[in-house]
Amino acid sequence: MSTQTAVGIAPHGGRLVNRELAGEAREEALARAAGLKKIVLGEKEASDLEMIAVGAFSPLEGFMDRADYERVVHEMRLAGGLVWSLPITLPVASDEARRLREGEEVALVDGAGTVLGLMTVQDRYEYDKAREARQVFRTEEEAHPGVARLYRQGDAYLGGPVWLVNRTSAEFAEHRHDPAELRAVFAAKGWRRVVGFQTRNPIHRAHEYIQKCALETVDGLLIHPLVGATKEDDVPAHIRMRAYEAILAGYYPRERVMLAVFPAAMRYAGPREAVFHALVRKNYGCTHFIVGRDHAGVGSYYGTYDAQKIFEQFRPEDLGITPLFFEHAFYCRACGGMGTPKTCPHGDGERVILSGTKVRQMLRAGRMPPPEFSRPEVARILMEGLTTVGDSSPLRPVRG
Ligand code: ADX
Repeated sequence: MSTQTAVGIAPHGGRLVNRELAGEAREEALARAAGLKKIVLGEKEASDLEMIAVGAFSPLEGFMDRADYERVVHEMRLAGGLVWSLPITLPVASDEARRLREGEEVALVDGAGTVLGLMTVQDRYEYDKAREARQVFRTEEEAHPGVARLYRQGDAYLGGPVWLVNRTSAEFAEHRHDPAELRAVFAAKGWRRVVGFQTRNPIHRAHEYIQKCALETVDGLLIHPLVGATKEDDVPAHIRMRAYEAILAGYYPRERVMLAVFPAAMRYAGPREAVFHALVRKNYGCTHFIVGRDHAGVGSYYGTYDAQKIFEQFRPEDLGITPLFFEHAFYCRACGGMGTPKTCPHGDGERVILSGTKVRQMLRAGRMPPPEFSRPEVARILMEGLTTVGDSSPLRPVRG
């Protein structure tokens, strides 16, 4: 059950996947699920299921089998040769994997037992966690949140095609648009060149600057905040979305900007995740994708521009979406405006650069960060968020 989009940039692999069941087919699947073995999905796997089903992860139609997994981990390509930089896998305990037969249909359920989908188990395989960590995250350290998650999960993977029968969340309904919908929106607006912006942090002036620099050269901007699982100390999605809503009306041209949520889980895989983020935004209909400083990074695991350098490993036609690179942006007092080391000749003394820790301290103390760093409308929402959550919260309003 797949649809071909008539408009816009071709999805990755050429065809937008649709693995969501509706109507009678869904009812039948739900009835069948009652008699099937159940596999409980974690938060990341539940969102992966949905992302596969709505076509965001096209050409994937299910969780990866061993052939796709191995080649993705080692070469950043699917078994068939298409570029793909992150494993999309369903981990289970080894004894659970042993209890299943290949070809068997299983029900995919959430922690509460609600059936989210069905999967035909085509492959069951053990994998090397340390090797996956090294290849994908460039570290084996458990202090890395992506590595920690990998080490916590089951020792075997199940591979096979999935069907979605229930979505996990209806939060942010107004801003929830599947790839096919966004493609239709872009077509209706007449946007031929659309730049996508991935983010998991609250909007600050540097974000706004690079978004607007990119928008200067294309027809439309898709602001696409990630609202799936993030690490504990990232700012919750509802606060980030409120901040966006608060400034869109006042500072952005509404007819050229679309705000939509990206319901995927964050991996913190830096360079590999930048490539993944770009390919997935192509599926949502973007022709261009912003990659700034330390994209999808965490701690000091990746070099500031590693997530840009990785794109050199691919031919532009193999990616199909054009990355737009930006250096570290800031407000410069001597320039009297925003800039980057590429456009501003002044030194650090003139530049307003604040670390996340510093801004957090200021907000907690009830002090507004400088307007050159954060729009007051945003700072107020973050301050309120911090106060509501309480002082013990490690809430991280911004990354410096
Ligand atoms: S991310 O994990 O989603 O990359 P974040 O929301 O902070 O985190 O970043 C969103 C995008 O903005 C990424 O492309 C990132 O590289 C870029 N970015 C963030 N801060 C800056 C900055 N000060 N200068 C340039 N690019 C930035």
